[in-house]
Amino acid sequence: MSKICLCLTGKTIKQDVDLLSKYRNYADLAELRVDCLDAGERLYIRRFPELAGIPVILTVRRDVDGGYFTGGEGARLKLLANGLAYANADSRFNFAYVDIEEDFNVPSLEEAARTFGTRIIRSCHDLKGTVNDFSAKLKTMKHSGDEIVKIAVAVNSTRDVLNLFRSSCSFTNQDKILICMGHYGIYSRILSEKFGSFLTYSSALSENVIPGAPGQLDVKRLSELYRFRKITKKTKVYGVIGNPLKSSVSPWFFNTILNLEDADAVYAPFPVTDIGDFMELAKEMDIQGLSVTVPYKESILPYLGQRSAIVQAIGACNTLYRKDDVWVGDNADYAGFSSSLLNFLGKKNLKWQKITILGAGGVSRAVAAEVYNMGGKALILNRTVYKAKEIASRYNFRWGGLDNNGIELMSKYNDIIIQTTSAGMEGHDNSDPAELYTFTGKEAVMDLIYSPPQTPFLKRAADAGCRTLNGYDMVIRQACLQYANFFGREISKKHLLHINSLGEDKWDKIASG
Ligand code: ATR
Repeated sequence: MSKICLCLTGKTIKQDVDLLSKYRNYADLAELRVDCLDAGERLYIRRFPELAGIPVILTVRRDVDGGYFTGGEGARLKLLANGLAYANADSRFNFAYVDIEEDFNVPSLEEAARTFGTRIIRSCHDLKGTVNDFSAKLKTMKHSGDEIVKIAVAVNSTRDVLNLFRSSCSFTNQDKILICMGHYGIYSRILSEKFGSFLTYSSALSENVIPGAPGQLDVKRLSELYRFRKITKKTKVYGVIGNPLKSSVSPWFFNTILNLEDADAVYAPFPVTDIGDFMELAKEMDIQGLSVTVPYKESILPYLGQRSAIVQAIGACNTLYRKDDVWVGDNADYAGFSSSLLNFLGKKNLKWQKITILGAGGVSRAVAAEVYNMGGKALILNRTVYKAKEIASRYNFRWGGLDNNGIELMSKYNDIIIQTTSAGMEGHDNSDPAELYTFTGKEAVMDLIYSPPQTPFLKRAADAGCRTLNGYDMVIRQACLQYANFFGREISKKHLLHINSLGEDKWDKIASG
């Protein structure tokens, strides 16, 4: 089974030893990144395996390969030789592995490593995406015998990940390490076992250390949230697709539930650049279910073999699950939104309610439809006015811009205000889309954003005395509906209570180094 390797990138041996003792339970082995150590500290690497107490990889990564070593090859060879010198008959006191590149050719050092049981990891770091044929590369890299071959490639697209996955499938019976570096390859690090990789590299990101490479996950998160060490070839894979997909609550939600249930399933974040490429990968990886977020809710439609009534009616899908070898598409956005809003208001419908909807994007479209279905009368305001008009005309609603004229109209539609724009969203901007509006304090205000928990807009509403709700409750309700689609059962009350007790600002983001 694939192992977790903790990258140690401290400046001193002591820092590395301290970090290892804190995170030892989450890792199977460690990598001593000698290139990150201060020059004076590099003299003391020989004793590191003994201090570590778990198998250690000796690595001196060159700057051209994404590391920090800037000296010449002679100096590097000396460091490696120092690390492997005075081999102990008890192999626990020696480095278990040494990482050397495919262009490293020092037979005497390699021979010495083999003699004392230090296994060679023969590596290739493709930072610019120049390797086209990973299969050919994997076949030709090995210099001899029992080497583990390693390809770490910086990926910029889903196609790159698909290529590496395919190469791995065609290259079995050989220990290999395959890493897709960067945000678009983050799931290759979680689903390392599925990618046929001998190990995955991770860092103690919560300690503010330098990540060993771009896209690495926090070792504790990988081990506890994703239950990396329980993932086998049989584990069922689910996940969320989107782009850029940096702050979805779903991986935290689903994995927390799956963990409570001790289910043999994992839910991964899939940042995707091309939906067609990903759907090929999903088939080849035998993915069982997917949540779909921006911008793929419409472009996913051609891949569905079956559509629920709501998907047919609105032409957008946020949930995919497998049935008889086809993808069935459903949409939990609508039901999640309306049940959250009605619960917040303590009402059964929106009859007699005058409502302002801020925004006229994809989310607003769904909100407007639901407001109409629940009997509300609305005003839609948007920065780009024609989009507001286009949605409003369908339901005989009023429309306007986010300017003085539009905002003035709001005072007649202010029983409930629903904020659907991306203004104030983490990673978007910090603006308030209705800054010209003065709250009376009587409005019920719902902002669909949940990250951050309180946008500048929602804070202003709360400060004015309004009842407020952010999008967290809605997103949890949507996730519960998706869960029922994925697993054909409801989440138990006990587990839901547990999730709710963890709180809306405690969930783990899709953070990577
Ligand atoms: P979504 O699917 O999340 O609704 P979208 O379709 O891209 O995403 O829509 C984003 C919405 O947020 C739009 O209404 C957009 O206004 P425009 O149509 O004028 O682009 C709105 N929006 C984004 N940033 C905004 C800002 N800073 N102030 C006001 N509205 C903003």
